[in-house]
Amino acid sequence: MSHFFCLFVCFFYVFPPYPADLSGWKRTLWFWSLRLNYRGAPMLFNYVWLRDHCRSASSFNTATNQRNVDTGSIDLSIRPVRTNLQGDNLILTWPDGHTTEYSLAWLFENSYEKQKQTPVQRRILWNADVYNKAHVQPAKWEKFMETDDELKKFLRNYLLYGIAFVDEVPNTVEATEAVTQRASLIRETTYGKMWCFTSDFSRGDTAYSQLALDRHTDTSYFHEPCGIQVFHCLKHEGTGGRTLLVDGFYAAEQLRQKSPENFELLARVPIRHEYIENTDSHKNHITAIGPVLQAYPWNNEVYMMRYNNYDRSVMNTVPPDAVQRWYVAHRELTAELRRPENELWVKLTPGKVIFIDNWRVLHGRESFTGLRQLCGCYLTRDDVLSTARCLGLEGLS
Ligand SMILES: [Fe+2]
Repeated sequence: MSHFFCLFVCFFYVFPPYPADLSGWKRTLWFWSLRLNYRGAPMLFNYVWLRDHCRSASSFNTATNQRNVDTGSIDLSIRPVRTNLQGDNLILTWPDGHTTEYSLAWLFENSYEKQKQTPVQRRILWNADVYNKAHVQPAKWEKFMETDDELKKFLRNYLLYGIAFVDEVPNTVEATEAVTQRASLIRETTYGKMWCFTSDFSRGDTAYSQLALDRHTDTSYFHEPCGIQVFHCLKHEGTGGRTLLVDGFYAAEQLRQKSPENFELLARVPIRHEYIENTDSHKNHITAIGPVLQAYPWNNEVYMMRYNNYDRSVMNTVPPDAVQRWYVAHRELTAELRRPENELWVKLTPGKVIFIDNWRVLHGRESFTGLRQLCGCYLTRDDVLSTARCLGLEGLS
């Protein structure tokens, strides 16, 4: 019998009405749910959920980790006819005789209450001082390509800070491609798979100039903005051109603490971003709608920021009575993002490849002179996270 474990089954609510609103659902919560106390933590498990998540051989395929049970066939009024505790296991017998067995530890790990208190991704929010004092070491090309330990160390830094470097990479597009493919799949976009550009205005985007670029996230005009951006400066014969990095999540947390109502507004109001290119060789019209900040509703953890004043389109998705408030909220976030102490300036040199979490860390650059050749690509976010999980990195769920 587990320590600190109690179990309550509620039989007293005999004729629950099917509720028409949420308050009704709350009133009948106890009827539809099993209440457990495990290690002092109260948890509620809905009966349909308990049948739906059954891990018996007929309900779940452990070889493929896929559900076998047909959720659409579960009686929505289902309740176990017997509920027993054996050691640290909960055993439920259903009306058709099927039995479900859960370890209490599994239920605790997978409970809503646990998820609510656990970040989906553990992070260290930073300004320039915090990042510099952390003395995060770059990975080294040879070790990175040959050992999982170096890749794991690199990914841990990347996940915690949203940026990570690999040094001593051969000064070629091919080596840059190889280094990115150690971590993930390349996401092909209208710019190609690997792109290589100079300030030749070859594409209809300010990036292809010598102008300074203010902090921004890329591809905010995609419904799923690119997860990771990779840069490698192959050559620069001139001055300037340092890369600016700002932790957008640090700024968002500052905003949440100082003006929760402005944070909420930016997280709720969807706006449009757009990319229109009309040249002889390229025709594009890409647009997506989404809020500046996206947070998980169950724990309020920010997981994506879209911030690109260049690509923000006509704002016609905001109700007139919220437009002024949206600009005030946007200005406050902008002020946080522009605080000099939040700016990390890095000079990218041949051999130094940077990975940037494009859902979190904003990038920009100062203007430059001379020939500057940059190559890079976008990576798919899910595959970077998958690599990290497969290497056993903690702090990801
Ligand atoms: Fe960019």
